[in-house]
Amino acid sequence: MTTPGPWSAPHVPWFGGDYNPEQWPEDVWVRDVELMRAAGVTLATVGVFSWARLEPRPGEYDLDWLGRVLDLLHGGGIAVDLATATASPPPWLARLDPASLPVRADGSRLWPGSRQAYCPSSTTYRERSLALVERLATRYADHPALVLWHVGNEFGNHVAECFCDRSAERFREWLRDRHGGIEALNAAWGTAFWSQHYSDWAEVLPPRATPTFGNPGQALDWRRFCSDELLGHYLAERDLLRRHSALPVTTNFVGFWPELDYSSWAPHLDVVSQDTYQDPADPRTHVDAAMVCDLMRGLGDGRPWLLMEQTTARVNWRERNVAKRPGQYRAWSLQAVARGADAVLHFQWRQSTAGAEKWHSAMVGHDGEPRADVAALGAELAALTGVTGQPVHGRTALVFSWPSWWAQAQPAQPAAELDHLTEARRWYAGTWDEGLTVDVVRPGADLTAYALVVLPTVYLLADAEVAALEAYVAGGGTLVVGCWSGLVDDRDQVPVGRYPARLRDLLGVTVLEHLPPAGPVTVELAGDRHQVAVWSERLAPDPGTEVLGSYAGGELDGCPAVTRHGRVFYASAPLPPAGTRAVLAAAAAAAGVGPALAGLPPGVEAVRRGDSLFLLNHTDAPVELVVGGEPVRLAARDAVVRRAP
Ligand code: GAL
Repeated sequence: MTTPGPWSAPHVPWFGGDYNPEQWPEDVWVRDVELMRAAGVTLATVGVFSWARLEPRPGEYDLDWLGRVLDLLHGGGIAVDLATATASPPPWLARLDPASLPVRADGSRLWPGSRQAYCPSSTTYRERSLALVERLATRYADHPALVLWHVGNEFGNHVAECFCDRSAERFREWLRDRHGGIEALNAAWGTAFWSQHYSDWAEVLPPRATPTFGNPGQALDWRRFCSDELLGHYLAERDLLRRHSALPVTTNFVGFWPELDYSSWAPHLDVVSQDTYQDPADPRTHVDAAMVCDLMRGLGDGRPWLLMEQTTARVNWRERNVAKRPGQYRAWSLQAVARGADAVLHFQWRQSTAGAEKWHSAMVGHDGEPRADVAALGAELAALTGVTGQPVHGRTALVFSWPSWWAQAQPAQPAAELDHLTEARRWYAGTWDEGLTVDVVRPGADLTAYALVVLPTVYLLADAEVAALEAYVAGGGTLVVGCWSGLVDDRDQVPVGRYPARLRDLLGVTVLEHLPPAGPVTVELAGDRHQVAVWSERLAPDPGTEVLGSYAGGELDGCPAVTRHGRVFYASAPLPPAGTRAVLAAAAAAAGVGPALAGLPPGVEAVRRGDSLFLLNHTDAPVELVVGGEPVRLAARDAVVRRAP
């Protein structure tokens, strides 16, 4: 049994990436270790896609080569995050059990030849993957190079659901656990509608392709089931690893991944890890990346997390793969560290010469040499003491809910374009522009540490989640609520009563009508006019509720649009950036929260982590800041780390 490695408190951020030695002859492994040392690599993730090499034929294992890789890395002073290699089964699995391949909603089956071709409910996949993990753990759990286990890879990417008969059986089992009897299921799904009543469990199916809109309650439970089904694989591997090893266990997340409820996964990870692939073609990509960092911190209840993958320059899976511009690779790496990452890792160490990712940048290019910017970053991080293990100081929270996202994404909503993630990003961008440091938290989280909470179009709220918001406001918290929030319960059912039933009393406003407009609508707020698309509402504020902004022109001319009821702000329309900022600025002033550094120019980010102040200039021009009375100059796309004043 190993004891936990130096994981919890690395002295400086880990630096390294996915290492796929099976793609290379052994003499290259030796060279790799030399090059890694020269580039400042301290951690390698080994074996993510090695199953076919580790078990070339069913039950025939070849693990010796992996031992040689681990020995070489250890000899070079490089720690290992050992993958369980179960992310992608070898082609023999499909031959052994063709039913292990995933089936789409229309009944068509996917084939091997790519990756992750397995049905999440396949018992063959489960048995064979656990057999492999048992071998790996028995053989290498005590290898001195190991500091971390890496289960699977980006669960749910690319197959998050399967509609086969085995999945249908598993879905029924899951539904029985959740609802008990068949009549409880009928009540939860509202099957009195469209003659959908089920009289026998055998009639209950996954939401396969149907003539028109399916049942939204069924679709919501399906999403929950699919997330739990993959979580079951993670847990089975984790539990097996725990029997052999006390090392921490992780699996890599992918930000706001639509199909897995990471807030239900995260409590089962010893350390949260994340793969981030910004789009350099998007001039605001650093804002979305910041939000993902803040989600990872929120998922880990504020604990440090690991940037498990990023690219050095380009990916190869977009239509046009724009490379990071000079400075961005370094600045975006430091952004992750600023926002709680204790590791800066990459996909992948050495660029492949064959296969689907040969045009994806790596730490070592096709010329066989580490990139200069990689070695420079490795050296810089090796000197970055006093940051790892430290908390990030944020007093603002933004609530993100996967179940709400799923429920709202069902068809037959008033406006399909109104989407939870889009609205969450809209509000987050406003906080970023205001310079606020935000934790992205799950609904129902303990909010007592926050002075300001933003609830961005959270359509579905469970009872406990409503209670958490009420307790927060009763305790003196300031709350900002976006339109179309609090409409339904956790079964996606609308309570009888005035809209939005779940939040009406907190808002001090009744929504009389939801009015997606045919064309743009104007909202007047704090002396400015803002054009709004997609959504508007007719509001009836309670006596005492202040009107901060109103609709101007059209049918809603003069009607309230933005309100304030005590410390609760409500925006009945998705406001453009300036309007969103105006609401947030008023709420931040009411809450007494401000930026990590006052007077930040647009496009410049300041984040405090522990005693360090990270300053990041995302613009293409130099900027001058004043920190503790001293001038600080940042070049275009530059970053500096200072002691916080
Ligand atoms: C990730 C994946 C890696 C690699 C990378 C390319 O989603 O985990 O294995 O494919 O994308 O950007």
